[in-house]
Amino acid sequence: KRHLISAADLTKDDALLVLDTAEELAQVAGRSIKKLPTLRGRTVVNLFFEDSTRTRISFEAAAKRLSADVINFSAKGSSVSKGESLKDTALTLEAMGADGVVIRHGASGAPHRLAGWVQGSVVNAGDGTHEHPTQALLDAFTMRRRLGELEGRRVTIVGDVLHSRVARSNVLLLDTLGADVTVVAPPTLLPVAIDTWPCSVSYDLDSVLPKSDVIMMLRVQQERMNAAYFPTVREYSRRYGLDGERMAQLPEHAIVMHPGPMNRGVEIAADVADSARSTIVEQVANGVSARMAVLYLLLSGSEPAIGKAASE
Ligand code: CP
Repeated sequence: KRHLISAADLTKDDALLVLDTAEELAQVAGRSIKKLPTLRGRTVVNLFFEDSTRTRISFEAAAKRLSADVINFSAKGSSVSKGESLKDTALTLEAMGADGVVIRHGASGAPHRLAGWVQGSVVNAGDGTHEHPTQALLDAFTMRRRLGELEGRRVTIVGDVLHSRVARSNVLLLDTLGADVTVVAPPTLLPVAIDTWPCSVSYDLDSVLPKSDVIMMLRVQQERMNAAYFPTVREYSRRYGLDGERMAQLPEHAIVMHPGPMNRGVEIAADVADSARSTIVEQVANGVSARMAVLYLLLSGSEPAIGKAASE
């Protein structure tokens, strides 16, 4: 495969290959080999039109650990402020030699458009409310490390599913991997087409907690949360937030996940986020291994862009 735009691009074999590769790379890093020569001579461009902490930094760390050169582009401070389009920005960066372009953009579908314009591999690092496939891969990697194979595991995803690219990518990937997914949200925070998603739906968090191996809390996107979706953030927190009392209803082996950034005290209580069941910090660390695997699998077999340009 040349690009990673959607979690639906991955067959079960593809997804398992990424997870197995991530595991091998994590083992190598655990043996204090900080840098592998695999992508020497390749260039990865991080093209970020939206803010990010975890995704941007972990893609940079992943590319550098594989010895790739990294160009970080942030729309803020660039010629995008003068009206330069995504296509022209991408072609400009490609002219400098990009083997892989990692893109985060506020518009759903931007990575798909980009893939039609550039020669290199495109990796979706989050597009609007559409998808965030590498988040789903690092989440699956984290679940597998904690709980073993995902076939038949019961994963509950809670919160603002309507606006969540993390939820969509996770539902698609977890279904591919054979997990049994339930989304829990108020009806106003579910997409109209939720019936077409490969998951069950519940409006009652307390009833699904005892049947969950994994509970994944989504960020309340406060910038979008108004009275049309839910009366108040406090009421949302009371009905759909995970506090210590609710966490106690989970089976003993169950883990608590959150993609970050978190609103402590809103969708997740601070003591829950910091508890031994929480994998939130592990998810960030695992993000580097999962992204190394994606970059390695997409880029290691191709001819470097710089070499290609020189020979044309
Ligand atoms: N989970 C996630 O995508 O975080 P960032 O927005 O900080 O990259």
